[in-house]
Amino acid sequence: MDLGLLDRVAIVSASSEGLGRAAALDLAREGARLALCARTDKTLQTAAQEIRQQTGADVFARTCDVSDPDQIDGFVAKVAEHYDERIDILVNNAGGPPPGTIAEVGLREWRIAFDRTFASVVRFCQQVVPYMQRRKWGRIITITSSSTRQPIDGLATSNAMRPAIVGFAKTLSRELAPHNILVNNVAPGMFRTARHEELLESMATSQNRSPEEILQERVAQVPLGRMGDPDEHAHMITFLASERASYITGQTIAVDGGLVRGL
Ligand SMILES: NC(=O)c1ccc[n+]([C@@H]2O[C@H](COP(=O)([O-])OP(=O)(O)OC[C@H]3O[C@@H](n4cnc5c(N)ncnc54)[C@H](OP(=O)(O)O)[C@@H]3O)[C@@H](O)[C@H]2O)c1
Repeated sequence: MDLGLLDRVAIVSASSEGLGRAAALDLAREGARLALCARTDKTLQTAAQEIRQQTGADVFARTCDVSDPDQIDGFVAKVAEHYDERIDILVNNAGGPPPGTIAEVGLREWRIAFDRTFASVVRFCQQVVPYMQRRKWGRIITITSSSTRQPIDGLATSNAMRPAIVGFAKTLSRELAPHNILVNNVAPGMFRTARHEELLESMATSQNRSPEEILQERVAQVPLGRMGDPDEHAHMITFLASERASYITGQTIAVDGGLVRGL
């Protein structure tokens, strides 16, 4: 299937590791040109170099903390300069919001969660939409979580902020449909990444159990009986970014091995 991604310019934020990096690599395999960011330059440049070597893609990589709107503005301006004022695809990603129950999470953590998980997406969208409007084509895809559908115990900030993204994306999809800009979310279940390892450690400490025991309990909730591979998540993003997804907008699509029970 020709996905029509050759030479498309795709920003993938928070993409030096994990789900963001897998999405970037998958888009590059289909011929897209990339703009990557993360906070740590060393791992970011290593990821960019590995993707160039594996795919031959043009990869622009620059540090940006997505919790800081000024850094987002500066990053998008540099991407536009590098790619001759062209940005076709935005994949929004960030590190997860701070873990904890409502009793454990203070106002400081709620503010971090708002800046990192919600405001970063709003700002990136505001910055890239004018470039997409000019070419009457665009794809905006945000990596969220299964908490958009079903709260996860011990992740209060995620359970509150992720559904806010769903409302934002649905609203934006309606505003941007006349411009042929499609807006969707992907809702991952459980994928073995650095973030997942951190969460296991945090849950193990607060429940006084071993991370391995918690992992087995979590995997047992997944009908497919295993954690996902980040590549399996990336393929959904690549499809939504492609020409083949031209009649899909305003959706939040689970990639979770059947984890969420809701209809
Ligand atoms: N893995 C899962 O099973 C799973 C399930 C549901 C939802 N999610 C969500 O999916 C997202 C990605 O998770 P992941 O598992 O891929 O995480 P990960 O393996 O920890 O990777 C996070 C990536 O984001 C970058 N990053 C973190 N904070 C950033 C910031 N403020 N600004 C810019 N870059 C930042 C990191 O690099 P630097 O640290 O250098 O910035 C790294 O490249 C998270 O929001 C997570 O909550 C993951």
